[in-house]
Amino acid sequence: MQTQKGKLELGREYPTPDEESAIQAIEQMTRQQVEHNYQVGERLARRDAHAKHHGCVKGEFIIEPNLPEEMKVGVFKESGKKFTACIRFSNASGNAVKPDTKGDGRGMAVKLFDVEGEKLLEDEKKTQDFVMVNHPVFLIRNLQDYVEFFAAIIAAKGSLPFKFFFPGLNLLNWRWQEFMIATSIQRKKVINPLAIQYWSMTPYKFGDRAIKFSAKPSANNIFDKKISNSPNYLREAMVEYLKSQEASFDFLIQFQTDAERMPIEDSSIEWKSPFHKVATIKIPPQSFDSPEQMEFCENLSYNPWHCLQEHQPLGGANRARKQIYESISQLRHELNNVPKVEPNEEEFSALFGSK
Ligand code: HEM
Repeated sequence: MQTQKGKLELGREYPTPDEESAIQAIEQMTRQQVEHNYQVGERLARRDAHAKHHGCVKGEFIIEPNLPEEMKVGVFKESGKKFTACIRFSNASGNAVKPDTKGDGRGMAVKLFDVEGEKLLEDEKKTQDFVMVNHPVFLIRNLQDYVEFFAAIIAAKGSLPFKFFFPGLNLLNWRWQEFMIATSIQRKKVINPLAIQYWSMTPYKFGDRAIKFSAKPSANNIFDKKISNSPNYLREAMVEYLKSQEASFDFLIQFQTDAERMPIEDSSIEWKSPFHKVATIKIPPQSFDSPEQMEFCENLSYNPWHCLQEHQPLGGANRARKQIYESISQLRHELNNVPKVEPNEEEFSALFGSK
């Protein structure tokens, strides 16, 4: 491991002694929220975050030909290799009926099938997930803050949690940076989920180095600029586009090159290092919004820890996600009385294979 002039080391995690209790508190609050929504709602237990999907689509994840040796790591080790991918596009809110016209983050979760190698979780043995949102940084600096944030979100009932950003009269306690991140996410105008860039926000291992990753729409995608007032306009825009056209994304990585300015533990700080293209995501024309396809999408489980050892998630937010995503996915599958199983490429392609 390379050592920096400062006290932090590249690629190294710095867990805090109190984080286990913060993770327990977040897990407990999240489970309560899922149970509460299930009781008062339509008796379908949904994800506590990113509850509404615009759909899952079938794509191809093609590793760049002629990658330099330093980038031939994990799923990227074989240049030119093609993986089938199931890609879920979503709104960030835990409210599945919030109209798309309201400001929100937007998610893109990519699941690769038939990935060989040592996996970090037991529940999915052959998949690799890349989970992203349409902003480069996360609005929470550490897990203690996340506990306060979550409590404020519940109290705010779907509005911006001002109590978290401005807790009391002491200006020194105001969280201006977090407020700016939240409002810039809310204000983004999205014409189509296939037209915007997504980022991992949090860091991951890339062999013995650390990276963040991003999916950027290719310059060839051409979108109608109109935004309708429909509550589901994002799904409708995807359906319309994929009737006749292919969408593609460049999949990019950036290395951590300075441990102080590009920290592992604080994901609210944007890393400033060049991005390198390591794969292309191709989404061919298709239809993806039948009731069976939507149900398949609902019952999937994405988890940043569904990954090869070489791509291990790093930093506090990711350490919390290991336990929480697993717990919430278990809970919603139990409440919905559906099996929580690893999807396989054959069943996915049978359902999503044709136009
Ligand atoms: C401590 C931090 C975080 C917590 C506690 C948290 C919690 C959750 C939970 C409970 C789910 C639903 C899991 C399921 O039922 O399958 C979820 C989904 C999701 N989260 Fe997070 N999250 C955190 C950070 C992040 C970050 C930093 C990102 C940025 C990429 C992110 C992006 C997503 C996306 C895109 C989904 C939807 C995945 C899908 O399509 O199924 N989350 N999150």
